[in-house]
Amino acid sequence: MPERSVEPWLRRHAGGVGFEVAAVETDRAQLVWADLPEGAHTLRAGRRALVLETAGGPGSFELTDLAPGSRTEVRLEVGEQTLRRVVHTLLAPPGPSRFRFATISDLHLGRGDRQYRGPLAHRGVDEPPEGVPVDDAGVPARQLINARAAVDEALAWGAEHLVVKGDVTEETTAGTWDQAASLLGELPVPASVLAGNHDTGGLAEFDPFVGAAERGLRLTRGVDHVDVPGLRIVLVDSTLPGSGWGAVARHSEAAATLAAEAGSGVFVATHHHPQRFSVPVFWPHGIPGPDARRFAGAVVAANRRVLASSGHTHRNRRRSVAGMPWTEVAATNHFPGVWAGYEVHDGGIRQVVRRIAAPEVLEWSHRSRHAFGGAWALWSTGSMADRCFSLTWS
Ligand SMILES: [Fe+2]
Ligand SMILES: [Fe+2]
Repeated sequence: MPERSVEPWLRRHAGGVGFEVAAVETDRAQLVWADLPEGAHTLRAGRRALVLETAGGPGSFELTDLAPGSRTEVRLEVGEQTLRRVVHTLLAPPGPSRFRFATISDLHLGRGDRQYRGPLAHRGVDEPPEGVPVDDAGVPARQLINARAAVDEALAWGAEHLVVKGDVTEETTAGTWDQAASLLGELPVPASVLAGNHDTGGLAEFDPFVGAAERGLRLTRGVDHVDVPGLRIVLVDSTLPGSGWGAVARHSEAAATLAAEAGSGVFVATHHHPQRFSVPVFWPHGIPGPDARRFAGAVVAANRRVLASSGHTHRNRRRSVAGMPWTEVAATNHFPGVWAGYEVHDGGIRQVVRRIAAPEVLEWSHRSRHAFGGAWALWSTGSMADRCFSLTWS
């Protein structure tokens, strides 16, 4: 970790304890802090006063019973300091709510100490959670712990379907796909799984589509779809085996046909993000802009009621590609450590990106925010409008 770091600035900017509104929904907000001293602290939200008992370090609090479309000032009293934040809740999309589902991506199961140094190095634990493998140094499979917590929290939120948007594994090996099977094989809800460039990379020990199938998991080949109440989920494989690049224009016709025949709104899931240009202007490279625009243009021409979402960049963003709203949602495997929830209405869809709140995951994801001298936290978080919004079908 370099000595010259923007992290001190970030900490000052966030009031010393890194207190922030991480997510908003129609009636609630997720409040997260990076480093709150041990003890009891008063949290005031509008006219309510609550006491937060904290053990020190990072943590989170679910502020509930808020009115949709409302503004609430939140004040956290820490010693002599009062930290003020404002919560703006969302209005629900038009029409009744039909369905909830969740997405996770970039689990990178099997990414271990070899890839992390300094503040990001994995640490041993006294008692790893049940079913989590431990390496020779006593270090548990951190990425599996993170992903499992994300899935548990998404299910508790009410997700009735899970979409996994690729980079399930760091590299395709028997061990990493065994972990994937232990995570996704016995869920109480159906799971749709896409491959990412890490799964199909040149170091793969076997064909991940075959290896996943042998473990009871079905990785989407080409284009697939699932119909749920009020929505068609279209799954698009953007990987090119052995390459980091993504490509989706080849799937335009199939995806557009599925969108045209949906009779409802459509959610398009891919692994790779759309680049603005043919050449990448940041790492990692994704789908070249013209390829992405050809795909998006075809889908949106077939059905204007559409939202697309990808992983791969490990950051949160929202933009429009040829008229199609397209979000990028960050990873489970390091800061900010998130999953996304979607509530489907007749007249639109609502996205919320939530930090994984399990204390041991929050502690680790907070530590990993220091990557690249703290610049990673600035880059990956995105704005609230990137993460949490209601989209009305046009
Ligand atoms: Fe990834
Ligand atoms: Fe990726």
